[in-house]
Amino acid sequence: MSGAAIRCEGLGKRFDDTWVLRDVDLDVYRGEVLGLIGPGGHGKSVLLKCLAGLLSPDAGRVLVDGEDLARLGPLGLARVREQYGYVFQNYALFDFMSVRDNVAFPLRQQAHLPPAEIDARVAARLADVGLAHALDLLPRELSGGMKKRVGLARATVGDPAILLYDDPSAGLDPVTSSKIFQLIARMHRPAAATVVVSHDIDRMRSVCSRYVMLEHGHVVFDGPEAALADAPESVRAFFFGAAHKHLEGR
Ligand SMILES: Nc1ncnc2c1ncn2[C@@H]1O[C@H](COP(=O)(O)OP(=O)(O)OP(=O)(O)O)[C@@H](O)[C@H]1O
Ligand SMILES: [Mg+2]
Repeated sequence: MSGAAIRCEGLGKRFDDTWVLRDVDLDVYRGEVLGLIGPGGHGKSVLLKCLAGLLSPDAGRVLVDGEDLARLGPLGLARVREQYGYVFQNYALFDFMSVRDNVAFPLRQQAHLPPAEIDARVAARLADVGLAHALDLLPRELSGGMKKRVGLARATVGDPAILLYDDPSAGLDPVTSSKIFQLIARMHRPAAATVVVSHDIDRMRSVCSRYVMLEHGHVVFDGPEAALADAPESVRAFFFGAAHKHLEGR
């Protein structure tokens, strides 16, 4: 068993005949914030879904604390997935539930928490993301950026051991984007493993301790920023180009 919270071994994923992840080896450790980068459409969201067991591999395997997700039954998978907080790229809020109920959802799954404590935690986390006033709104009454922040509140409210953020600042103004990355840093506990997918490399640099870059579904870089000096020119160009131009081409 590895010491990694999540390990991918030779992970492959295809849709029809097209392989969108190819032979991905990756470890995510507790205590680190891993930045997952790469051009649009090259497999970042698909990889994140495989890490959470939402998509199953067509080659290789994904281990969480040494357990192969493909070998767990539905109950085992549900137990493992209770450890996860996931901010989806497309929000994935429950349309028919208020902001309050969306954020309370993961806490209500933990049956032992008293309602007053759930209310207090939900209100506090929504205040953290600047949405204290939005408790009773429905998702359709929110802007895209507000939905993103509700998704962030919902993913983090239960202090999960594994946090996956898919493009958490997409579509947000610069001030809110900075606040979101500050929140990601604050949410990160030493016992937690965090993966952030983003094109906002400037802001990632304030929280990420390591980067993995995907190109055509394959890992072309895995290391801290200091190791970029030895990386292929295309990786350096992407990283340092995107660090200053992430808003272009979106
Ligand atoms: N459910 C699906 N069915 C078929 N193809 C899919 C599905 N999900 C993703 N793909 C394809 O897999 C490839 C990788 O998509 P993915 O969403 O992982 O890209 P990404 O790196 O997250 O891009 P972006 O930065 O734009 O979010 C794309 O070619 C996409 O069309
Ligand atoms: Mg994506």
